Amino acid sequence: MTGIGIHDIELVTTHDVLDLAALAEVRGVDPAKYEIGLGQTRMSVPAADEDVVTMGATAAARLLERTGTEGIRSLLFATETGVDQSKSGGMFIHGLLGLPSAMRVAEVKQACYAGTVALQSALGVIARNPEAKVLVVMSDIAKYELGGSGEPTQGAGAIAMLVSANPALVEIEPETGMFSADVDDFWRPNDSTTAVVDGALSLKAYLDALTGSWDDYLANGGHAIEEIDRFLYHQPFTKMARKGHRELAKYAGTALSEDTLEPSFIYNRELGNTYGASIYSALTSLLHHDEELAGKRIGFFSYGSGSTGEYFTGVVRADYREHIYVEPIQTELAARNTITFEEYAELHETVLPSSEDVETPRVTKAPYRFAGIRGGARQYEATA
Ligand code: COA
Repeated sequence: MTGIGIHDIELVTTHDVLDLAALAEVRGVDPAKYEIGLGQTRMSVPAADEDVVTMGATAAARLLERTGTEGIRSLLFATETGVDQSKSGGMFIHGLLGLPSAMRVAEVKQACYAGTVALQSALGVIARNPEAKVLVVMSDIAKYELGGSGEPTQGAGAIAMLVSANPALVEIEPETGMFSADVDDFWRPNDSTTAVVDGALSLKAYLDALTGSWDDYLANGGHAIEEIDRFLYHQPFTKMARKGHRELAKYAGTALSEDTLEPSFIYNRELGNTYGASIYSALTSLLHHDEELAGKRIGFFSYGSGSTGEYFTGVVRADYREHIYVEPIQTELAARNTITFEEYAELHETVLPSSEDVETPRVTKAPYRFAGIRGGARQYEATA
């Protein structure tokens, strides 16, 4: 076995998109605040028949078309936009995709950090059995109150990744640093579809977790900062990654170039915040847009409010460019349906009661859709 890591990765988003310039106009804000101040251009908005399950199923289906399902005995679904308090969103994906019954399926949660919990768990499974492969799906919809300060940092997207021994893309190194602190910076009550956020506190908690997990990373045998060639950060909005990068440089007492961050911003500027999928969407963007990554070490800062941070590294495989698939996500981003502010506001305010049967309109062009609620249970179906 030559290492364990990310063998394949796929990024998916929604049918609809809102231009942040349109939001700025309605809110009476200078559009430069969103474009430059936050580093965001557009945000993905789920259609009435899309949710974290449909996005996750689409991402997983595209990936499995390439890899097949042989050897996959675990499906770990990471989200903070759970569709049920008990049943894993991964179970709906398992059913939609007709995956084998000899499979472990579960959902993990810790705000935007959950995807990394799933990835690290997958690495552990494979360390015990190098033949095993784990399908990790991260899918989220960032939703804040209409007109609130978090509104321009909403978004939606899903990542599917296959984690295996001898990975084709990125080998994840074993050294890792952790930091956790109980902070009331961001949470979503059980009876609310929107998150509650203290913006200033959430930025501080992010930076505290960055320096805390960096210290723990070094204390546990991590590489010196000079040995890290590229830096990825959780991106609730892309400017936050710049803030993190500047903080890390100051903390480590070194100068770090910001130019190498740019390729990791390209997709997230368009998607908005994808919570748990965000840092892996940034990884996808980096793999798709930086042609000089062969053999390079990437530093990952994964963060979830509330709060947990983890610092770890991965090394990109020499022939990674033969194993990236740029076309599906770039076609999807270009084909999104641009909605007006009024259409966005209506979608935002539509909340389906789980106690009444309802059918959703057919909107999405994705292969799977949320059909509605029957007998209190969520119904999903293939669109073709
Ligand atoms: N042109 C260019 N930049 C402008 C501008 C203009 N006309 N007007 C403001 N800005 C800049 C500000 O200087 C600031 O940049 P800086 O942070 O580098 O100084 C940035 O735009 C944001 O302005 P600010 O006044 O701080 O925005 P805000 O109070 O409306 O809220 C957040 C910003 C991020 C706190 C808010 O969007 C939020 O709560 N988001 C959700 C929480 C979140 O994502 N937290 C991250 C941790 S997970």
